[in-house]
Amino acid sequence: MLIDSHAHMNMSQFQGDLPAVLERAALAGVGEILNVGYDPASIDETIALADKYPTMYAALGIHPHHATDWNGYLEDRIKQLFLRRKVLAVGEIGLDYYRDLSPRDIQQDVFRRQIGLARQFGKPIIIHCREAFPDVIKIMKEEKAYECGGIFHAFSGGEEEAGQVLELGFLIGIGGPLTYPRSILPAVAERLPSSSFVLETDCPYLPPQAYRGKRNEPAYVSLVAEKLAEIRGVELEDIARAAEENFRKMFHGAKDGPVSIAYGLKRNIYINVTASCTNDCAFCTRLRSNNHLYGYNLNLLADPSVAEMVAAVEESVFPGDFREIVFCGYGEPTARLKAIRETAAKVKKYGVPLRLNTNGQGNLINRRNIVPELAEYFSSVSISLNAQDRETYMSVCKPDMGEKAFDAVLDFIRAAAASTMDCMVTALDYPDVDLEATRALVESIPGAKFRIRKYHFPAVAGQAISK
Ligand code: NI
Repeated sequence: MLIDSHAHMNMSQFQGDLPAVLERAALAGVGEILNVGYDPASIDETIALADKYPTMYAALGIHPHHATDWNGYLEDRIKQLFLRRKVLAVGEIGLDYYRDLSPRDIQQDVFRRQIGLARQFGKPIIIHCREAFPDVIKIMKEEKAYECGGIFHAFSGGEEEAGQVLELGFLIGIGGPLTYPRSILPAVAERLPSSSFVLETDCPYLPPQAYRGKRNEPAYVSLVAEKLAEIRGVELEDIARAAEENFRKMFHGAKDGPVSIAYGLKRNIYINVTASCTNDCAFCTRLRSNNHLYGYNLNLLADPSVAEMVAAVEESVFPGDFREIVFCGYGEPTARLKAIRETAAKVKKYGVPLRLNTNGQGNLINRRNIVPELAEYFSSVSISLNAQDRETYMSVCKPDMGEKAFDAVLDFIRAAAASTMDCMVTALDYPDVDLEATRALVESIPGAKFRIRKYHFPAVAGQAISK
C-alpha cells in the first residue's frame, strides 16, 4: 500500500472535487493519507476530514509562517484534540527563514513549545525546514526531539544533512522534488537505508515533474515511488512496502513483523541463510541497524533449517515471476555449505536460476576448494571483495581469519571464474576502497566481471544514538 504521509486536503484547491481526487488516489494504490495542519483553521479542517473519511488521518500543529497565532487558548485546543484516535502527529512545525513570515525568535519559541507537546503526548513530529537547517537541528537536539521522532518533511539537503536527520531517529520525507530535472535529491535518495524514508506529496503543492504548474494530489505519490524505485534499482512495490513499514512503525506503533527466511525483492527471491559472518566490514549495517530491508524483518534468531528455507521459498514462489533465487543473508552462506547445497537441490525444481552471494572465504572456511560443489547447483556467484589490496581488505572487511583471507578470496574468485558459474565480483563505493584499482585487479582474472555497488548510510531512523 502507498501512503501519502503529507497532504493538505483541507485546502480550497480540493473543495470542488474531493471525492474524485480520493477515487484517483485509491486507484493509484494510496490507502492512507495524513493531512497536516498548519494554522488554527486548518487544524479543525483536518480533524473534520479524519472524522469523515476512513483513509484519512490528522497531524496538528502551527507552521512557522503562522507562529504569531500561537496562544494559550490554541495550545489547550490542540492538547484536547491530541486525545483523538486519528490524530497521529504534531505538525507541521519548524522554521522557515526563506519567507520569514513570522519573526525568527517567535518561530523558534513556538517550534520549541510544540516539540515539548509532542514529547508530553508521545507523538512524532513533522518538521518543516526552509533555509534554517542548522537552527532546526540545534533546536531538535536541545528539545530532545529524538525522544518522539517523526518525519523531516520535504527534505532538500545533501548527504551530510541526511546523516544528521537519521542520527536523530527521524524519517526522511520524499516527494515531488525527487522528480525535478536539476534536483540533488536522487544522489542522496539512492544511499538512504530502506528503513529511513516515507513518501509524501505536500499536495496541493510540489507536484511531480509530469504535473509541474498544476495541482498536486495524493495519487501522484505513486510517481514519486516509481522514481525512487528507478534510482535505487528496485521495484515500485519494494519502495511501497518499505515506506509503509516505516510509516506504520513511526505513526501507528506497529511492531516488527515475523522474521523473513525468504523474501521477494527486485523480482528475485532472497534466502536469509545466516546472520553469522567471518568478516566485520566497516560499512556493514548488521550490527548497526534494525536489519530491516524494504519492509522485511531479517533479524534471524537462529540459522533456519533446510526444511524452513525450502518452505519459505515455496511460499514466496507462487504466484510470481522471479528472475533468480539468491542465497544470501547478513552473514556468510558458505559457512553452511551442506545446508545451502541441500536447499539448492530442493528449490532447483522451480526452474529459477540460483545465485550465491558470498564474501569469497568459502574455501578457507571449509578447508577445501568448494567451487565444484557450488557449481553443481548455482548458475552464478556474486563475491564482495571491497578492496584493491590486502591492507585495505584488512581495514575495510576486518576478516576473522586475518591476513590470509584476502589471498583466499582471490583464489576463490579464480576458481569460480574458471567454473561453469557466472562470476561477478563487487565493490562498494566506500571512501577507503580504490574502485579503479579493484576493477583492474578483478579484470586481470579471466572470466571475472566487476560491478560497483552503492553503499548506504549506516545510521537508521528509529535507531537514534541518543535514544
Ligand atoms: Ni506541507
